[in-house]
Amino acid sequence: MRELLKELLGPGAWSRVEIVGDIAIIKRPFGSPLKEEYRRAAEEILKRAPHVKSVWLAATPVAGVHKVRQYEHLAGEKRSETIYREHGCSFKLDITKVFVSPRLNYEHLRVAKLVREGEAVVNMFAGVGVFSIVIAKKAKPSVVHSIDINEEAYRYMLENVRLNRVEGIVIPHLGDAAKVIEEKLVGVADRVLMPLPDLALDYLPHALLALRGRGYLHLYLHAHSEEEAARAAMERLGELGRRARLLGHREVRSVGPRLLQVAVDVEVG
Ligand SMILES: C[S@@+](CC[C@H](N)C(=O)[O-])C[C@H]1O[C@@H](n2cnc3c(N)ncnc32)[C@H](O)[C@@H]1O
Repeated sequence: MRELLKELLGPGAWSRVEIVGDIAIIKRPFGSPLKEEYRRAAEEILKRAPHVKSVWLAATPVAGVHKVRQYEHLAGEKRSETIYREHGCSFKLDITKVFVSPRLNYEHLRVAKLVREGEAVVNMFAGVGVFSIVIAKKAKPSVVHSIDINEEAYRYMLENVRLNRVEGIVIPHLGDAAKVIEEKLVGVADRVLMPLPDLALDYLPHALLALRGRGYLHLYLHAHSEEEAARAAMERLGELGRRARLLGHREVRSVGPRLLQVAVDVEVG
């Protein structure tokens, strides 16, 4: 698909396309060609990739509390809801209302493989439930509490729990993660996921509050290098007076010029 787009928009264009279910998203690069060229490219994608039914232009980067982009419809069905499939799970979602990134695909499974039988997990920023449901399907947790502040994400998460038959394992919660933990999830978790770089460091005290004592944290941070992200996480844990052991770090994806999203895995004693 990338090759096709390169061919349609010219070799100099830094263009990318992302497929979410049967929707193709063309991400707008800096100094992008005129919109008409995108429309032609979108029509061509529909012709050459029959599984794609609708093409949208990502008009802005992800933004705001809900981490949603603004989109312009380019071609095909004017529909933004789809079923996104990953690791044998299905996720109903609307690309204009909730966060989704197929580029987190590997990371979802990587974390699921670390979860041991019977573990209780808290996912502080769960979106439509991708991490949580992949964990419930690929590992044997006792429970995955899944929090999101976006009502639309919460509504899709409820639906996705049913769609993937993980009722009773993945428990959706609507609200601010800090508040939900304070009110309902103190001392319940063996593992806490923090897949939101904007809040991962600020919300660390609440991640620690959710832990039963000893446990694991997965922080997602933006940094110039993996080492910088790991240092920031360990320093913050030190400031909070917690003994912590760095288990590893991994570049998840590039998110801007020389800026990375990094996963930092920590064991807290
Ligand atoms: C990057 S997305 C999560 C991605 C998701 N884990 C996945 O793998 O697809 C971050 C999510 O955090 C939610 N969010 C933002 N602030 C929040 C808060 N204070 N408490 C709970 N959720 C929050 C957003 O609505 C968004 O769905």
